[in-house]
Amino acid sequence: MPFGVRRTVLATLATISVALVATAVAYAGNAGFAPGEPHSPNAHRITDAYIFVSIFCGAIFLIVEGALITFMVKYRRGKRARTADGLQIHGAVRLETIWTIIPVLILAVIGAYVFYKLPGITDAPNAAAADQTEITIEGHQFYWLFRYPNGAISINRMVAPADQVVHEDVVGLDYDVNHSWWVVDLGGKVDAIAGTTNHTWFKAPQGNYVARCAELCGIQHALMDGVVHVVPRAQYDSFITQRKANGSGPRLGKEEWTGVCQSCHRLDHTYIGPALGGNPLLGDVKGLTTLLRNGQGRMPAVGKNWTDAQIKALVSYTRQFTKQGGAG
Ligand code: CUA
Repeated sequence: MPFGVRRTVLATLATISVALVATAVAYAGNAGFAPGEPHSPNAHRITDAYIFVSIFCGAIFLIVEGALITFMVKYRRGKRARTADGLQIHGAVRLETIWTIIPVLILAVIGAYVFYKLPGITDAPNAAAADQTEITIEGHQFYWLFRYPNGAISINRMVAPADQVVHEDVVGLDYDVNHSWWVVDLGGKVDAIAGTTNHTWFKAPQGNYVARCAELCGIQHALMDGVVHVVPRAQYDSFITQRKANGSGPRLGKEEWTGVCQSCHRLDHTYIGPALGGNPLLGDVKGLTTLLRNGQGRMPAVGKNWTDAQIKALVSYTRQFTKQGGAG
């Protein structure tokens, strides 16, 4: 192939590749490289930092790759003999000084910006007592358990007041493994490290926000997700009041069944654990208490810190499955 034609072919191929990649990235939008849409002041700051750092990364990528391609073309062997030496260059003090100082400055600027943003990410804003609440989040194999200030409990679905500061205590139980609480739109990951408690917060408008476990915690890690349901304060208050009043009722029981048991069990077939349909234990508070609090075989002690009321709640819902053939 003559050189001119070969160059045209190469240039065309390169242009097509770049266009394809660019289209894919543009089409992917927020599902691709960009972080989620932030809905809390701390999440906004994390996104700001992400974008700020990305600008430098993008510019450096273009400069380095551009120089690489330019030099590959400009200094290609061409018609020179394979054995011919290239240019012999010894040092370029000015250039070397420049390419040392510029990265140092870039790192200083990025560092300063991140440290400027950091307090607003970690520290919750001041708020009157009536405008804030505190929710404890426990990571378990393989579910999230939420404890509200009045003692109410929910599983995998956190209910929280809108436009108020919600303090989150992320607890790792000392007998469980590590998990990581991550509500993508409400801030960064906060690890639930066994035996410790970490803190974070959010302040979000009404809406549903997806929560994920971001730490590989065992066979059903991928199923360990939840939702943060942000509702008006009055609705939040009424939810925790009702939940507290029905702390051993089937509403909580159903959450426990779907969020805890069904992570590993089905009624009609073997899943991670054995099929449970028709098992008399599902109606037996005493037997189930022993099993949940101690675990058995490969089953972890999923209910080790459950109250009697919580176990009653589960049985009030699962009793129906002691008869073979129930759905679920
Ligand atoms: Cu819990 Cu992954």
